[in-house]
Amino acid sequence: MSKTVVLVTGSNRGIGAACIKAFAEAGANVVINYCHHEEEALRLKQEVEKEYNVEALVIKCDVSDNEQVENMVNEIVDYYGGIDILVNNAGVSRDSLLLDKTVKEFKRVLDVNLLGTYLCSKYVGKVMLNQKKGKIINISSTNAIDTFYPESCDYDASKAGVISLTHNLAREFAPFINVNCVCPGWTKTNMNKDLSLDQINEEKRKILLNRFANPEEIANVVLFLSSQKANYINDAIIRVDGGKYNG
Ligand SMILES: NC(=O)c1ccc[n+]([C@@H]2O[C@H](COP(=O)([O-])OP(=O)(O)OC[C@H]3O[C@@H](n4cnc5c(N)ncnc54)[C@H](OP(=O)(O)O)[C@@H]3O)[C@@H](O)[C@H]2O)c1
Repeated sequence: MSKTVVLVTGSNRGIGAACIKAFAEAGANVVINYCHHEEEALRLKQEVEKEYNVEALVIKCDVSDNEQVENMVNEIVDYYGGIDILVNNAGVSRDSLLLDKTVKEFKRVLDVNLLGTYLCSKYVGKVMLNQKKGKIINISSTNAIDTFYPESCDYDASKAGVISLTHNLAREFAPFINVNCVCPGWTKTNMNKDLSLDQINEEKRKILLNRFANPEEIANVVLFLSSQKANYINDAIIRVDGGKYNG
């Protein structure tokens, strides 16, 4: 029987890489997508192929570029014959004062986080509709719901857009494709590498579990939503944030 095929966008490191490892450990063939850091992607390919006896395809693609996304999806289908699971994980943040942001900076965040999710879902969605099965998991953020930072207003808006897009994709692709959305809170990745110790401690105080997530703790939820055990979960927005302290 052929193995499950999983595409995780932006998966050379961080939450995406944790998803790749989780899927590979579960026996799936994986597609590692990167935009800039090829060495990280190639290292991850070597690691999972050696550790888990699966195949890992590495594809460079800027998810905000229509033609590159179409080519990536065609390459995967030519190679594996289909795509069972798509995790729209690629994302960027550009923290700067709201009044200082340039149009170019603001648009870039929207292009990668929101347009990228749309383009990958569109092209992979067509493949999944032909197969009459598939699962899409979008990675949004608690910043989309109730944790707002003016310096990341572009990021917060893009992630709110991802939630909205999840609802529309679930409608468009029903009943063949389950589309769900995971909203992580603070997670220990490169994205937060510039936080000072004071900022980290201040943010931890707002979390009931009093710590940031490990990327694997987000990947576990993505893996569950992609599994047969989650077949009746659809159009759901799931926070994975350690519990928000409102006191
Ligand atoms: N860390 C958190 O606290 C947190 C909280 C909530 C949600 N999230 C979300 O989780 C997702 C993963 O973030 P992370 O924390 O793991 O951050 P990260 O370590 O910075 O990883 C971001 C990934 O996205 C890729 N990427 C960036 N631009 C891309 C593009 N145009 N096309 C394709 N890939 C691109 C990067 O690849 P290259 O290095 O090759 O550019 C990298 O693999 C993001 O959507 C983020 O918004 C993170």
